[in-house]
Amino acid sequence: MTKKGRILTGDRPTGKMHLGHYVGSLANRVRLQSTYDCFFIVADLHTLTTKPEREHIANLAQNIHDCVLDYLSVGIDPDQATIFLQSGVPETYELNLIFENLVSVARMERIPSLKDMARAANMEDSMPFGLLGYPILQAADILLPRGNLVPVGKDNESHVEITREIARRFNNLYGDVFPIPDVLVGDVPSLIGIDGQAKMSKSLNNAIFLSDTAEEVTQKVRGMFTDPNRVRADIPGRVEGNPVFIYHDAFNPNVDEINDLKERYLLGKVGDVEVKKKLTIAINNFLEPIRERRAQYQSQPGLVEDVLVAGTERARAEAQKTMAAVREAMGMYRLPVKTL
Ligand code: TRP
Repeated sequence: MTKKGRILTGDRPTGKMHLGHYVGSLANRVRLQSTYDCFFIVADLHTLTTKPEREHIANLAQNIHDCVLDYLSVGIDPDQATIFLQSGVPETYELNLIFENLVSVARMERIPSLKDMARAANMEDSMPFGLLGYPILQAADILLPRGNLVPVGKDNESHVEITREIARRFNNLYGDVFPIPDVLVGDVPSLIGIDGQAKMSKSLNNAIFLSDTAEEVTQKVRGMFTDPNRVRADIPGRVEGNPVFIYHDAFNPNVDEINDLKERYLLGKVGDVEVKKKLTIAINNFLEPIRERRAQYQSQPGLVEDVLVAGTERARAEAQKTMAAVREAMGMYRLPVKTL
């Protein structure tokens, strides 16, 4: 079958993935993997921008493994999609350097997500050069396999915008090598955490993980933030912006049930306990096939690594083709030495 184009997207391997990752980007990946030629990157180099210390690097092997296992568990099919490791494609460094010269410092300093990341990492007053360049490295990831479509969460939208600008600038200067990729943000662009205070994030301790057990989900939903003004079940409650209903909308396929709960909630005719019980069932039903696939993949030792090695070889071959076209277009002088 001829594919509609190429997808490139991925994640930093910082730990277990959660429901926010699913609705922001993973769902789109699973949905589109048969119609697009998909490249999914495990972006280990990007973790160095906020966590350069050895102790964090030491965790990467495990985190990379967990990330690939999360991909496989949600139903990304390694026979269809290319799952690969960023640092296994050294052409990334080369294209990154070329791209760094096509963007101004002022433009990079205007990207709001970088300030957020710096703040979250306590680096506001000591922004590393590499963190400022984070979206440029991401542009290299996207454009190495010449991706046409980038499914990401809302927080990454501005990085795809920079990628488009870089691709245009390159093509203007040197000739048409790169597509101008489109961004695709998921149904729930930014999922609120179970604390109702901030977007779901591992570091904020407000996440439900794709690898959580049924019991863990039950506990977390039980403690979820709802409408703080509703101290009794017979007081009319707020549905809009209420995390339990946001999650019902995102994970409960039973629309009639949701509408009934919302109606009664607004009238003060249903308790939080019932709303949460039904939510627990919905989320566990959603996670069950993910758990089953995880168990299956986990029972095959070496499989995750094999998937990553095969994918990285394929991604590298594509990257080498692109870099040959890049050097050719730029007219870079190359020493007449075989190894270069
Ligand atoms: N920036 C992404 C994140 O927030 C990870 C990432 C790195 C990425 N390279 C990418 C996403 C290329 C999409 C495309 O974790």
